[in-house]
Amino acid sequence: MKIKIEQREPEQFEAATLVTIVFEDGAATYSHPWVQEIRESGEFEGKPGQTQTLYKAPGIKSSRLAVAGGGKRDKFTPAELRKLVGGVLRGLRSKAVHDFALALDASLATPEYVAAAVEGAILGDYEPDQLKTDPKKGDARVDSVSLLVSKSDAALERACERGRILGEAQNFTRDLVNEPGNLLTPTSLADHARAMARQFNLGCEVLDREEMKKIGMGSLLGVAQGSEEPPTFIILRYQPAKPASQDHLALVGKGVTFDTGGISIKPSEGMEKMKYDMAGGAAVIGAMRAIAQLKPAVVVTGFIPAVENHVSGRAQRPGDIVTSLNGKTVEVLNTDAEGRLILIDAITYAIRQGCTHLVDAATLTGAIVVALGHHYAGAFTNNEGFFDKLQSAAQAEGERLWKLPLDDDYKDYLKSAFADLPNIGGRAGGSITAAYFLKEFTEDKPWVHLDIAGTAWLDESKPFLAKGPTGIAVRTFVRLAETWA
Ligand code: BES
Ligand code: MN
Ligand code: ZN
Repeated sequence: MKIKIEQREPEQFEAATLVTIVFEDGAATYSHPWVQEIRESGEFEGKPGQTQTLYKAPGIKSSRLAVAGGGKRDKFTPAELRKLVGGVLRGLRSKAVHDFALALDASLATPEYVAAAVEGAILGDYEPDQLKTDPKKGDARVDSVSLLVSKSDAALERACERGRILGEAQNFTRDLVNEPGNLLTPTSLADHARAMARQFNLGCEVLDREEMKKIGMGSLLGVAQGSEEPPTFIILRYQPAKPASQDHLALVGKGVTFDTGGISIKPSEGMEKMKYDMAGGAAVIGAMRAIAQLKPAVVVTGFIPAVENHVSGRAQRPGDIVTSLNGKTVEVLNTDAEGRLILIDAITYAIRQGCTHLVDAATLTGAIVVALGHHYAGAFTNNEGFFDKLQSAAQAEGERLWKLPLDDDYKDYLKSAFADLPNIGGRAGGSITAAYFLKEFTEDKPWVHLDIAGTAWLDESKPFLAKGPTGIAVRTFVRLAETWA
C-alpha cells in the first residue's frame, strides 16, 4: 500500500474517494457544501465511526466524497485519528474502492497525527489470512492512501515514515501471533527473529537446550521438557551509534508457542486460542524491528524465552521442584502457570547481561481478563518513576495500561513448604501473585510487567481492526526507547 503526504487542495485532488473528517460541532477538515446539508438532514451527526458517501459530488475531482465522523473536536486525539483511518479504509475496501485521499486541516497536519493516520491505514488493512489459499487481495485491497495537507515539510515526511515503520512492525508481530502451534515452534520463532535481525542489522543469538542447561536455566527447561519441540532462547541486540546514557533497556517477552497447560491440562474448549501465548515475545520481536529502523539513542536488547508447554511422559509434574537461573528453587504446583517459569530465567539472564531497566510483556493470566476485560493491559511495577515513563509512552501511542498493586503484603500468597517459592498463589489476586512471582527475580532493577492476556487477541473484529492478533505493546515499547533520553 502506497501512503503519501500530498500538498494539494482537496477539490483539485483526484482520488476514488475524498474523505473529510466532520466533527460534532460541524467543523470539517474539508468543508464541501454537502457537508452542511448532510448535517442538517439529521442523518449524520459527526459521531466517531459514522460515515456517508456521495457519488459524484459537485465541485471536486475525486469520484466520491465521504464524510467520516470525528466526534468531539477536543477529544480527537491521534488515537482517534488512527481508528478513523482504519475504519474508513476497511469500509471503502468492502466497497472495492482502491484508493482514497484524506483531507487534514492545519491542526491535524502535525507529526503525531500524521504518524497515527499512517498507522491506522496499515493496521486497518491487516487481515489474519496469511494461511488462506485465497487471501483478501485484488478487488478487496486499498493500494493507495494520500494525506492532503496545505503545507508539508520534512517533519511530516519523517512522521509518515515513522508511522509506516510502526504499522509494519505491528503487523509483523500480528502475523507471528496468528501462526498456529504446528507451524510456529520455538525453533521457527527463532528463525523468524534471525531473518528479521539480518534484514534490519540487529545482533541475534539463539541459545539451544544444551547451552541453557549449561548456564542453569532450570525453570525454563522444566517447562520445555514435555514437548518434542526443543526450546530456544532468542536474544536481539540493538546498539545505537551514540548512546545518550549508560542505560541498557531489556524487553522481555513470553514466547510460549502453544500452551496446553501441561499435566495441569487446560479444558479443550477454547484451547486453540493458546497459539497466541507467544504474543509478548512477538511484540518484542516486532518492537526490535522498528527500533532497528528508528535508531533511538539507548541500548535495547530483546529476550524471548520460547517453549511449547506440552503433555507427555517426560512432562513436568505438579510438585516438581526446579532451580532457576538465579539459584532460587521453585515448586511447580501447577504446570499451567508456565509463563512465569520461563520469564524468571529470562529476567535473570537480562540482568546478567547488564540490563539496567526491564520491561516484560506476557499473556500471563486469565485473571487479568476477569479484572480488566479486553480494553486495558494490566501493568505492575517495582518502580513508580519507571512506570510513569512507560505509561506516558503508552498513552502517546493510544495503548491503554492500568496499574495494579504489588505491595509486599502479597508475598504471603506465595508460600511453599518445600522450595523457596511456589509458582502459584491461591485463587485471590491471580494476576498480582503472578506479577509478584516475577518481581522476586528483578533484583530491584526498575521493572514493569505488562499482562497482555486480555488485549493481545480480539475475538470480534472492530470497524477499524480485523479480529485476531492485535500486536499490543509494540508501539509502547518503541516509544519508550525513542523517548528514553
Ligand atoms: N497462557 C495462560 C494465560 C492466559 C489465559 C492467556 C487466557 C490468555 C488467555 C497462562 O499460562 C495460564 O495458563 N495461566 C493460568 C495460571 C493459573 C494456573 C494460576 C491461568 O490464568 O489460568
Ligand atoms: Mn498456562
Ligand atoms: Zn501460558
